[in-house]
Amino acid sequence: MFLAALMTVALGHASVFGQMMKAMVVHQFGGPEVLKYEDAPRPQPKEGEILVRVIAAGVNPVDTYVTAGKGGNATLPVIPGRDVAGVVEELGPGATKFKKGDAVYAYSRNGGFAEYVAVAEKDAAPKPASLTFVEAAGVPVGGGTAWRALVDTAHVAPGQTVLVQGGSGGVGGLAVQIAKARGAKVLATASTANQDLLKELGADVAIDYTKQKLEDVAKNVDVVLETVRGQIDRDYPLLKKGGCLVSIVGPADPAKVEQFGIQAPPLADVGSPLPKLTKLFDAKKLKVIVSQTFPLSEAAKALEQVGTHHTRGKIVLKVKEDDAEKR
Ligand SMILES: NC(=O)c1ccc[n+]([C@@H]2O[C@H](COP(=O)([O-])OP(=O)(O)OC[C@H]3O[C@@H](n4cnc5c(N)ncnc54)[C@H](OP(=O)(O)O)[C@@H]3O)[C@@H](O)[C@H]2O)c1
Repeated sequence: MFLAALMTVALGHASVFGQMMKAMVVHQFGGPEVLKYEDAPRPQPKEGEILVRVIAAGVNPVDTYVTAGKGGNATLPVIPGRDVAGVVEELGPGATKFKKGDAVYAYSRNGGFAEYVAVAEKDAAPKPASLTFVEAAGVPVGGGTAWRALVDTAHVAPGQTVLVQGGSGGVGGLAVQIAKARGAKVLATASTANQDLLKELGADVAIDYTKQKLEDVAKNVDVVLETVRGQIDRDYPLLKKGGCLVSIVGPADPAKVEQFGIQAPPLADVGSPLPKLTKLFDAKKLKVIVSQTFPLSEAAKALEQVGTHHTRGKIVLKVKEDDAEKR
């Protein structure tokens, strides 16, 4: 009881005498092996929040950083997980956007690797009817980032040429499709094994970064989205004068931005992209590639794969196995 109360206080959201749930909890920072499958206090939704009964949870590189104590200012104990799809269980004070039982997908500020998570209602949207819960859980971080980069920041327009670096990953896979849906000509990079996926996602030109020289195939590009850490130097010479470099893996070098006469704005934040993504999914203009699923209790295996930075599409945890494949 004492231990439960202590966890409750430490995890912030929960009431001392509240119900418990299963979750993957980090008590000491480290590699995927520090994730423990255990009972944790069920969160209470605060002002403007909804409590989501999680059916599936997407896994992202950021979860490895949170688990390692290298990002997101997490304090211990922490439950990682920023992508969830599930059903509204309870409304917090002042939450008016949803009702109990609504199917939603949401961006959670950690806490998603659990049976329940409290999220701000502004970070949630109706789950696209065309997606299963597993597929929907693969969208918020990757799709939201791709949308913010290409639409809110670069304002990709019909007829432009867009290069997506890392087009087979969680962000890149949705970015390729969003750029196509905006009417752009899309070039995308990945390794040999993922060339088929780039084509399946609609890339006009699939580039194998292990075999081809980028500058031979990508010239005078309007927009480059860089999703691979440590690789930004390759992007400057590929852009036309006035072109736009959007990096989600660290800022561009201002001296090079000036030298090449390009722009490199920070990622815009103009409100949740999820409702806009829902429309595109339901119009069948986007799809989610889920390459692997694991039960919640095996989240460590999922983190190991995501930590390779060579994930094909998305990896998703099935938190409630029975409902995970339902639309
Ligand atoms: N700033 C933000 O708001 C934000 C938001 C989301 C993500 N991120 C960051 O963005 C990065 C990507 O996230 P993600 O979820 O898309 O990762 P991911 O799912 O691991 O995808 C990475 C993709 O990059 C490809 N790749 C690896 N090396 C490459 C190279 N040298 N050239 C071209 N492609 C390469 C991989 O394909 P192959 O296996 O074929 O190599 C893989 O499909 C992570 O570092 C993440 O932390 C930042």
